[in-house]
Parts: sequence; structure tokens; C-alpha cells
Amino acid sequence: MSDKAPKRPGTRLRKLFCLAVFSYFALLVLATLSASLVRGFFAPPTTQPIAFPHTTHADKLNLACDFCHSGVKQEASAGVPALSVCLSCHRAIATDRPEIEKLLGYERRGEPVRWQRLHNLPDFIHFTHQRHIQAEQPCAACHGAVERMLEVQRVRSLKMGWCISCHRSRGAPRDCATCHK
Ligand code: HEC
Ligand code: HEC
Ligand code: HEC
Ligand code: HEC
Ligand code: HEC
Repeated sequence: MSDKAPKRPGTRLRKLFCLAVFSYFALLVLATLSASLVRGFFAPPTTQPIAFPHTTHADKLNLACDFCHSGVKQEASAGVPALSVCLSCHRAIATDRPEIEKLLGYERRGEPVRWQRLHNLPDFIHFTHQRHIQAEQPCAACHGAVERMLEVQRVRSLKMGWCISCHRSRGAPRDCATCHK
């Protein structure tokens, strides 16, 4: 008499089933991973270190855009505000909110807030805010109604065709060297 339990006929099938289930999930994980890799490669990350609401500041409080983006009139870059600009209000305002506690944490650690860039032209392009603002092009022509965005979105392609078509309609220069360094 054998003391081994007789091999039940279902065992192989069950093993096969387990293998199928395992591979299914493994493939699923792989697919999700590669999809997020592809997304990460093509689209810039948009999660900011602090959830800064333009709606509150630029619409409700009606702060001027260049109160924070102080480069727009005189410089190529608009610039993002230093922590000290935020703290001029938030040392006292809404200090109990989690996002403001985070903000004060940066000050305690003496660390700058590393805002993610959404708009970024290639290095070989010459672009300057100053010229456009002096020519009275409104922020919204290129950035949309930012004061109504809880989280800023990029609403234009920033492709050459976009620059050229506005330059054509406004009679601005269109020779290659205008924009190409
Ligand atoms: C109280 C300060 C403040 C005011 C006022 C303000 N902004 Fe901003 N803005 C910021 C900060 C901080 C960021 C970076 C975080 C973010 O993207 O939300 C930013 C980001 C942006 C960006 C995205 C920049 C990029 O490419 O990453 C645009 C465009 C912008 N602001 C336009 C505007 C316009 C237009 C106005 C006026 C209607 C305005 N902002 C008013 C503080 C301000
Ligand atoms: C002129 C004053 C002022 C400046 C400058 C300012 N804020 Fe504010 N901020 C406010 C006020 C007022 C509120 C609304 C608080 C409330 O809801 O009671 C607010 C709200 C916020 C909130 C939402 C808080 C919440 O969860 O309800 C965040 C986040 C924030 N500010 C971040 C910033 C950052 C980052 C900067 C600098 C780029 C900045 N603020 C500059 C006045 C200011
Ligand atoms: C003619 C189109 C145009 C107009 C008008 C314009 N911008 Fe921009 N903005 C751009 C482009 C293009 C970039 C990306 C620049 C780069 O990568 O060098 C940009 C970038 C930015 C950035 C990212 C940070 C930085 O330092 O450049 C902010 C903030 C910004 N703009 C705010 C503003 C504000 C505020 C106004 C209005 C006062 C404004 N812009 C008007 C086209 C425009
Ligand atoms: C909403 C319309 C508009 C868009 C979009 C726009 N521009 Fe312009 N741009 C103008 C106007 C108007 C002028 C003319 C300014 C002047 O006459 O001083 C100008 C001038 C310029 C100048 C200075 C030209 C000179 O005289 O040397 C440069 C550089 C420039 N634009 C680059 C760009 C680039 C790069 C883009 C796209 C990323 C772009 N612009 C998108 C309207 C626009
Ligand atoms: C008003 C601004 C502007 C003018 C004028 C302009 N370009 Fe561009 N060009 C851009 C911008 C912005 C980009 C980058 C975004 C893109 O690839 O569309 C670009 C990209 C390009 C690229 C692709 C480069 C690459 O490696 O991706 C080529 C090629 C090019 N331009 C050629 C030209 C030629 C040739 C002219 C003159 C007939 C010209 N451009 C005039 C703004 C301009």
C-alpha cells in the first residue's frame, strides 16, 4: 500500500489556473508601469509641492499678476515668486491650514519651494516676456484665464506654428532669426 496521497486529477488544472491568474496580474502591473513611464516622458509632471490656488489670489484677492511674476515687464522670464513674497501674508494668514503649514515648514528648513515648470521652450528659442507685455499682449492670450484656474494648466502648444500665426496677425517679425538663436 502506498502511503502517498493519490494525485488528484484537479491539481494540474489548479496549478495552470494559478499560473494564468499570476501572469494576468503581472502583465497588468507591467502595463501600468510602462504607461506611467510613457506619460512621465511626454507630459511634464504637474503635482506642485504646495497646492497654490490662483483663483484665491488672482481672482478673489485680485492681486496683479506681476505682484508675483515680477519679471514680466522688464525681463525675458516672468519668474515665480520667492517664498518671502508668500510669507509677507502667510506668516499671519491661514496659518492653521495644512498647505500653509507646509509653506512655513520650507521657511523653518531654509529650503526654497521647488515649483514645477509647465511652460518651457527649447534652449535654442529666443523668447522674452518684456517685448510682448510692452506690445500690450495680455497674459491670457498665451496662458488663458489663469485667475480662474485652481491649478494652472498649459492651454497652448507653444509650437512654432502658434508663435508664427500670432506674429502674422499682429504684424510682428517672422524671419527665422527673430526666434532662433
Ligand atoms: C500670489 C502670487 C501669484 C499671483 C498673484 C499670480 N501667480 Fe501665477 N504662479 C504663482 C506661483 C507660486 C506659481 C507656481 C505654482 C503653480 O504653478 O501654481 C505660478 C505659476 C504660474 C504659471 C505657470 C508657470 C509655469 O510655466 O510653470 C502661469 C502661466 C502663471 N502663474 C500666470 C499667472 C497670471 C496670468 C496671473 C495673473 C492673472 C498670476 N499668475 C498671478 C504665483 C502667483
Ligand atoms: C496679499 C496676501 C497674500 C499673499 C502674498 C499670498 N497669499 Fe496665499 N492666501 C491669502 C489669503 C487671504 C488666502 C485665503 C485664506 C482663507 O481662505 O481664509 C490665501 C490662501 C492660500 C492657500 C489656500 C489655503 C487653504 O488651504 O485654504 C494657499 C495654499 C496659499 N494661499 C499659498 C500661497 C503661496 C504659496 C503664496 C506665495 C506664492 C501666497 N499664498 C501668497 C493671501 C496671500
Ligand atoms: C506672447 C505669449 C505670452 C504672453 C503674452 C505671456 N506669456 Fe508667460 N510664457 C510664455 C511662454 C512661451 C513661456 C515659456 C518661456 C520659456 O520657456 O522660456 C512663458 C512662461 C511663463 C511663466 C513661467 C516662468 C518663467 O519665468 O517664464 C510664467 C510664470 C508666465 N509665463 C507668466 C506670465 C504672465 C503673468 C503674463 C502676463 C503679465 C505672461 N506670462 C504673458 C508666453 C507668454
Ligand atoms: C498673442 C500673440 C503672440 C504670440 C502667441 C507670440 N508672439 Fe512674439 N510677438 C508678438 C508681438 C505683437 C510682437 C511685437 C513686439 C514689438 O513690436 O515690439 C512680438 C515680438 C516678439 C519678439 C521680438 C521681436 C523683435 O523685434 O526682435 C520675439 C523674439 C518673439 N516675439 C518671440 C516669440 C516666440 C518664440 C513665440 C512663441 C513661443 C511668440 N513670440 C509668440 C505677439 C505674439
Ligand atoms: C515667432 C517665432 C519663430 C519664428 C519666426 C521661427 N520659428 Fe522655428 N521654432 C519656433 C519655436 C518656438 C520652435 C520650438 C517648438 C517647435 O518645435 O515647434 C521652433 C522649432 C523649429 C524647428 C524644429 C527644431 C527642432 O529641432 O525641433 C525648425 C526646423 C524651425 N523652427 C525652423 C524655422 C525656420 C527655417 C524659420 C524661418 C523661416 C523659423 N523656424 C522661424 C519659433 C519660431
